[in-house]
Amino acid sequence: MQTILPKEQIDFETNKRLLNRYRFIEYESLRILAGWLPATANMELKLAMGRLLWEDAQHVQHLYQRLREVQTPAFRPPDDPALEHLMAQALNAPNEWDLLAGLFRVIKPALVDAYRWHSGQTFANPDAPTLYAFKHILVDEEEQLRWAQAVLADHPVGEWEKTVAELLAAAGGVTGQAARPTRPASDAVGKPFVPPRQAARDTRFSLVNRKAGQVLTDPDIFTRRQLEFENYSQEMLAAETVALVIWLSPEMPWEFTYDSARHCYDETRHCKLGIEWMAQHGIDYTRVPQNTRIYEWRSQYDALTQYTLLTMGNEVHAFPYRHESIKAYSQLDDKLSIQYITYDMADERTHVIYGKRWIPELMARQGIDKPAEQFIEETVALWEKEYRSGLLPLHEHL
Ligand SMILES: [Fe+2]
Ligand SMILES: [Fe+2]
Repeated sequence: MQTILPKEQIDFETNKRLLNRYRFIEYESLRILAGWLPATANMELKLAMGRLLWEDAQHVQHLYQRLREVQTPAFRPPDDPALEHLMAQALNAPNEWDLLAGLFRVIKPALVDAYRWHSGQTFANPDAPTLYAFKHILVDEEEQLRWAQAVLADHPVGEWEKTVAELLAAAGGVTGQAARPTRPASDAVGKPFVPPRQAARDTRFSLVNRKAGQVLTDPDIFTRRQLEFENYSQEMLAAETVALVIWLSPEMPWEFTYDSARHCYDETRHCKLGIEWMAQHGIDYTRVPQNTRIYEWRSQYDALTQYTLLTMGNEVHAFPYRHESIKAYSQLDDKLSIQYITYDMADERTHVIYGKRWIPELMARQGIDKPAEQFIEETVALWEKEYRSGLLPLHEHL
């Protein structure tokens, strides 16, 4: 009998090492997008970032499901300081446009190339589950690259992208297998990232603390309906809080980040739902002042409190109002509004479930050992006092 030398370049050990690298890049990319979402001013970019970070969470999930079949623990650092340095630095972009250029014109195209190359070099049948993961990840990643190409068409390649490219080269590329230059990469052009305490908006918007925390109702059903959808168009504020919570909670289990990426994406979709409803009714959503004070107020608290204020305050208490809306709009035979609200409520029910699942875990990580019910009760009381009242006080001592 002959001994066959395989022609595939990727053996089992190499496969694991590479999968760890891809998983790390996708996960860090998700975290970078979450950190930057509130700090990004352009509304169209913010809306896209919710989707992009959720897609990256799907990619991590695909890779995680494969990795847990081949190694324990499934989540591991890539064991390459240069790769960790690349992703740590990719965060410190000078502005939102450079950030996206670094991610989507340098790192992601190299990642896509690696997925394609890997697909041809692993053992096709023995490693079929990996190929399945890549096939599905590539559908999103290729679309992400097309999106970035269009959105960044007018953004010239600047120093930042060159820096990111150098850092990637210093890591031997995505696979780590390319020759690493001996000259160290320069990383002087960035700006150290600080978790945003303010929600940025572009110059089209005015900012105001208008009727914050109030139930927006009106005896005139058409006015009530418009107020409701204007409010939807501001749900970016919820997406921004969830994004900040993701950023502030790197020690939480992967499943928390996965659920929260979906939560964040949902809130950007609810924001878009408001924008689309208004456009369909001939109203320009940029003329509605944005209550960015809500984000600023929430962001002064720790991640657990922010998350509890949102899920057990806003989200739990939204249902009676939405049920009234459906009843009211049925009288108008307004199918569009009813459909939008029905889908929104399905998401919100899931967000409340996330809250109930993860609040005890966040409490445990913070060493809070009181019963979860008691913590929730106290935090909802805080929400009533500071949010429902419309006061949104900023406590300097926090
Ligand atoms: Fe929402
Ligand atoms: Fe929600």
